[in-house]
Amino acid sequence: ISSFSENLRLSDSFLFFYEDLFSVTEEANIGHIELSRDCDLVLVVPGTADLLSKMACGSANDLASTLLLATDKKILIAPSMNVNMWHNPATLRNVELLKSDGILFVGPEKGEMACGAYGLGRMSEPEDIISTAVELLRSGPLAGKTILVTSGPTIEYLDPIRFISNKSTGEQGRCIAESLSALGADVTFITGPTTLPFPLCRKKISVESGDQMFVAVKGNEPYDVAICVAAVSDWKATPISKEKIKKNKNESLSLKFSENEDILRYLSGSKKRPQLVIGFAAETDNLIDNAKKKLVEKGCDWIIANYVGLENGAMGSIENSISILKAGGIEEFHKRSKVEIGQILAQKITTEIT
Ligand code: CTP
Repeated sequence: ISSFSENLRLSDSFLFFYEDLFSVTEEANIGHIELSRDCDLVLVVPGTADLLSKMACGSANDLASTLLLATDKKILIAPSMNVNMWHNPATLRNVELLKSDGILFVGPEKGEMACGAYGLGRMSEPEDIISTAVELLRSGPLAGKTILVTSGPTIEYLDPIRFISNKSTGEQGRCIAESLSALGADVTFITGPTTLPFPLCRKKISVESGDQMFVAVKGNEPYDVAICVAAVSDWKATPISKEKIKKNKNESLSLKFSENEDILRYLSGSKKRPQLVIGFAAETDNLIDNAKKKLVEKGCDWIIANYVGLENGAMGSIENSISILKAGGIEEFHKRSKVEIGQILAQKITTEIT
């Protein structure tokens, strides 16, 4: 949880361990009934077959089952058990019963298990469990607002194994998506290939090419706000060679490219236009002049200008310096971490649309 604490403000939380149902000292501090109420969500990790069975028949013979029976809060279970145990009719019956009682589940997943077996029953990744919990607890000034964030680079294939791309790591888009989620927004995050984990947000979609990103953006409309952070390749090879391109010693290589759809421009002119459309201007020279031109040409409401040149450029760095351009003027933020830039933008968006 600590890696997400900055946005979720969990850094002040403390962990307590309780084991006994009728411990004299623990009962004196906090009774098991209070324990079941003094929280926003009860997370059951790992949800074993035994505990599921106890919950399904309302047992209360230890602290965990008593707490689960006594709580008036939402319960989220991450089942974790051997594949045969998961598929056992008794377990499946218990799961159905618990679901009809309003108990929520994340997973299980298919995969390798601690016992060496393979199949359904493997516990979901901790990040996915936390992500689901965060979604269940989501509240804040942006609750109910649907926000698109495009992020990362795109790759455009030349042949089955070669492609062109760019240096974008996707870090800035990821930070913006997490900050918006932390303020309660319903974020759809569409990313090109990166090595980063997904941000904590409701919908995460991976694509490779600009065409795929465009299809994903259209497929999830409408949005209240759209932020195009992705470094979408301007060009795609047309056609993509079906076979590996062979070298020809006597000739230089010529490839044909055609333009990719401009997603930001599409969103700005869309019939379902978001209330607020924000683009980025990745520039190596004449930063503000080029960004001003983009604000007009793309028809968006704000352009975030950032320098991406070789020396101290934003791509690949943990820091960023941005200028926010709007019809009303320019605001600058120098040398902040990308996390901070995400938070600043999320706050500004909140002020604008709420
Ligand atoms: N953008 C987009 N779809 C594209 C190209 C760009 O949505 N096919 C968006 C980017 O996400 C960014 C903005 O347009 O928000 C500007 O992208 P940038 O790469 O800075 O400029 P380009 O529009 O590609 O123009 P140029 O390469 O000539 O600077």
